[in-house]
Amino acid sequence: MGFRETYGREPDGVWHAPGRVNLIGEHTDYNDGLVLPFALRQGVTVAAARRDDGVFALRSLQSPATAEVTDPAPGSVDGWAAYAAGVAWSLREAGYPVGGASLLVDADLPQGAGLSSSAALECAVAVALCDLYGVEVPRPELARIAQRAENDFVGVPCGIMDQSASLLCTEGHALMLDCRSGLSTQAPLDLTGLTLLVIDTRAEHELVDGGYADRRAACEKAAELLGVPALRDVTDLGEALSRLGDPVLRRRTQHVVTENHRVEATVGLLRAGVVGEVGALLTASHLSLRDQFEVSWPEADVAVEESVRAGARGARMVGGGFGGSVIALAPAARAERVRAAVTEAYARRGWAEPRFLEATPSAGARRLR
Ligand code: GLA
Repeated sequence: MGFRETYGREPDGVWHAPGRVNLIGEHTDYNDGLVLPFALRQGVTVAAARRDDGVFALRSLQSPATAEVTDPAPGSVDGWAAYAAGVAWSLREAGYPVGGASLLVDADLPQGAGLSSSAALECAVAVALCDLYGVEVPRPELARIAQRAENDFVGVPCGIMDQSASLLCTEGHALMLDCRSGLSTQAPLDLTGLTLLVIDTRAEHELVDGGYADRRAACEKAAELLGVPALRDVTDLGEALSRLGDPVLRRRTQHVVTENHRVEATVGLLRAGVVGEVGALLTASHLSLRDQFEVSWPEADVAVEESVRAGARGARMVGGGFGGSVIALAPAARAERVRAAVTEAYARRGWAEPRFLEATPSAGARRLR
């Protein structure tokens, strides 16, 4: 993939980390709650070679911007390269002595589509640097190291879901992750006879914008007022809602608590092998994100409505919100009709044409060669 042309030598290896789709459990991770993502086949590939001059050379086939960093420190690197340099910094901060490397990044995941291209980049770099330097880090810890790169080096206050999904998912499964204990189990996600369509609404999302941080702050405020460590700990929703005076905090709390229930119900259905039955929960999650958490966007609402009208069993926005993608779960025979309905509805409104990809629950980060 051009490593030799770029660096004048062969790489020591090539690593891949996938993007993710969250089946359900949105805005629950930073509330110590439950999430249920699965890995996509698409993701980020990094070809890398050790260097003994301590330099991190960072290049990407998707961006003309390059960086050469010797001692990565927060604030010293911008743009896409910050996600990669941040991982080197974070590994060192955690006591793992990784040295310099030449890296060439390639991605087949649309950026800004809410499919975690940044976590995929972080995780691909993380597994590459660990292997290059013979450093062994348990995957759950490596997820926290990658998350720290994003939180403290890039400055995005994301939760632990995306990095965990990229590192821990397995083929044919969704990952049920308890974001408080860090414990995870694999739930079978057998899509036989079904199509899980990812609809990129083409409205770009950016976690760096204020909406995400604002939602996190509201959740923390609500937990504080309720006297619990996190909204995860609300056991009596009715009682909690009656104690919150602020209608905005009531709505945020209602979303988080009911969303955790929806994750548990979904896992039960997956374990029973009736994936098609989760449709109603997906749509319920969307309505809650739209009306209670207020992070949906017009293109997502239309994609959900049109998908369901055209025969999908359910649909919802995925990721942080304010742009990105929608998933629609449809009987395979209806998938084409769903695509056509959403495409037409967008055209009628003069919106950019949506892009579709068919999601296949795939393996987490790994060395390719
Ligand atoms: C983004 C963040 C995740 C999570 C989701 C919302 O994807 O990176 O940590 O909070 O939003 O569920």
